[in-house]
Amino acid sequence: KTHKITLIPGDGIGPEVTQAVVRILEATGVKFDWEQFAAGAEAFEIFGEYIPQALYDSIERNKVALKGPVTTPIGGGFKSINVTLRKKFDLFANFRPIKLLPGLNSHWPGVDLIIVRENTEGEYVGLEHEVVPGVVESIKVITEKGSTRIARFAFEYARKHGRKKIHSIHKANIMKLSDGLFLRCARKVSEEFHDIQYGEHIIDNTCMQLVMNPYQYDTLLLENLYGDIVSDLCAAFVGGLGLVPGANLGHDCAIFEAVHGSAPDIAGKDIANPTALLQSAILMLRHLDEEAAADKVQKALETVYSEKKCLTRDVGGTCGTTTFADAVLQAMA
Ligand code: NAI
Ligand code: MG
Repeated sequence: KTHKITLIPGDGIGPEVTQAVVRILEATGVKFDWEQFAAGAEAFEIFGEYIPQALYDSIERNKVALKGPVTTPIGGGFKSINVTLRKKFDLFANFRPIKLLPGLNSHWPGVDLIIVRENTEGEYVGLEHEVVPGVVESIKVITEKGSTRIARFAFEYARKHGRKKIHSIHKANIMKLSDGLFLRCARKVSEEFHDIQYGEHIIDNTCMQLVMNPYQYDTLLLENLYGDIVSDLCAAFVGGLGLVPGANLGHDCAIFEAVHGSAPDIAGKDIANPTALLQSAILMLRHLDEEAAADKVQKALETVYSEKKCLTRDVGGTCGTTTFADAVLQAMA
């Protein structure tokens, strides 16, 4: 079977890490038919659109995309391509596993966390306006439907994969109505899952608790913005943003992408770590029921890390993006 996959290399370090990952995927023996598209500023230059219609159509058809990061301008400019795609395909669950690769050092070597981030609402609905000069309103939207389905996703994942505990992370002491609704929905869903412990922690305390002792957590259930921030915090447990994978999942489509952004500070230098996107690609292979290929890449990745022969700079090595990919390919052969 050939898998048709929409491929969005993105910009910044995106094309470099995507190329590395595609080379490795091609070597698994699984057959891919890539439909490649530009997005963001790059697409605007070519097509006059930030997201070309053909890209939407491709994801709609293929149901699966592999995506590099796309730069989002701060302040003015265009809306986030990432947020737009997640909303367009109703990819309501952002799934981010945090686990240390063998051979890497961490203050918390046993860390094993699942971050489940609501991916379509909260502060990310893009409802902002200037009331009068000097006063801006930004609207946060929380719905019963959105909160219930993300809670259900977290509990079902936990049950299926033998996770023991879920904590809802919130600020319902201040955002009484919005975070209050999010919590009520999570609590209600939790009643159907007596096999899984359920707890609630306030977001600021959670950040401190995570840094003091992340072992107390198992699965974190968060609204969109809290999930965004806590994901980067948790990336630090396992070596940083170059490592942590992600999946944007809906009922119909899925887009696999790393947690990190386009890293303009290191773009174009062949020094970015492609591991985060590679681990996202492993999640994609499992989603495609290509378990054997997923295991093969995972094993090769673990070999490269545990042998410490070719690591990228972000984790203390001197290898480049391309030579790191070569090492993974060699470990697979
Ligand atoms: P960033 O995640 O791009 O970079 C943060 C830090 O981590 C930088 O020091 C960078 O060098 C490092 N880093 C990130 N990925 C790395 C990798 N694979 N290997 C080694 N080091 C890595 O965050 P930043 O700088 O805040 O955002 C840059 C741009 O990316 C912004 O325009 C932002 O909007 C966009 N962005 C896009 C995302 C997406 O496409 N899904 C997600 C996050 C940010
Ligand atoms: Mg982020």
